[in-house]
Amino acid sequence: MPAKTELKIGVFRGSLRKGSYSGAVADFIAAAMPNGFDAEIVDIGQLTMFNQGYDDDGTTPKEWTAFRGKVAGLDGCLFVTPEYNRSIPPVLKNALDIASRPQGKNVWSGKPGAVVSVSPGKSGGMAANHQLRQALICINVPVMQQPEAYISGAADIVKNGVVDESERAFLTAFANAFADWVKLFVKTAE
Ligand SMILES: Cc1cc2nc3c(=O)[nH]c(=O)nc-3n(C[C@H](O)[C@H](O)[C@H](O)COP(=O)(O)O)c2cc1C
Repeated sequence: MPAKTELKIGVFRGSLRKGSYSGAVADFIAAAMPNGFDAEIVDIGQLTMFNQGYDDDGTTPKEWTAFRGKVAGLDGCLFVTPEYNRSIPPVLKNALDIASRPQGKNVWSGKPGAVVSVSPGKSGGMAANHQLRQALICINVPVMQQPEAYISGAADIVKNGVVDESERAFLTAFANAFADWVKLFVKTAE
C-alpha cells in the first residue's frame, strides 16, 4: 500500500449543545492539527440508540452503517467531551458502542486516539476523561498518554464559542503531540 500524504482524523464531540464549551475546544484542536492532517468533526448526534437486535435481525440502521464506514476510514480519533454525572455523555458512549459492533467487526480497533475533557468546574472532567479511556481500552484504541488534557474553568476559557488566548498554546501543543502519536501508527510519505 502506498504511503499516505494526508492523515484523516475524526473528531468526536461529547456535547450536542449549541454554544458547547467542549465543542469549541474540539473545533480549536481540529483547526490546530498540523499540515498533513485533515481533521473532521464527525456527527454522532443522529445515531439511533444502540440496540444489538438491529444487527442480529438484519435491520441495522443506515446511519450506523455509514458511521461504521466513516470510522473505518480514519487514521486517528480525537474525543473531546464534557463530564455528565462523573461519566461520559450517552451520545458519545452510543457512538463508541455502535462502531464496536457487530462482534468481531470493531472498526475502532488499532486507531490511535486522544482524549480531552472539558468542564466549567474545577476537576476539568477528569472522571469522564478516565472513564472514556477505560472504554477505549476495551475497543482497542491506543490512547495517547501524555499530555493529559483536563480543561477546567471552561466558562472563562471559551467565550462566544472562541477559545481564549491563554489556552491556545496548550491546545496547539496537544494537537501537535497527537499528530506525532498518530504518525507512530501510520506509514506516511515523509
Ligand atoms: C446531565 C449533566 C450532568 C453533569 N454532570 C457534571 C459532572 O459530573 N461534572 C462536571 O464537571 N460537570 C457536570 N455537568 C455540567 C457540565 O460540565 C456543563 O453543563 C457543561 O457546559 C457541558 O459541556 P458543554 O458546554 O460542552 O455542553 C453536568 C451537566 C449535565 C447536563
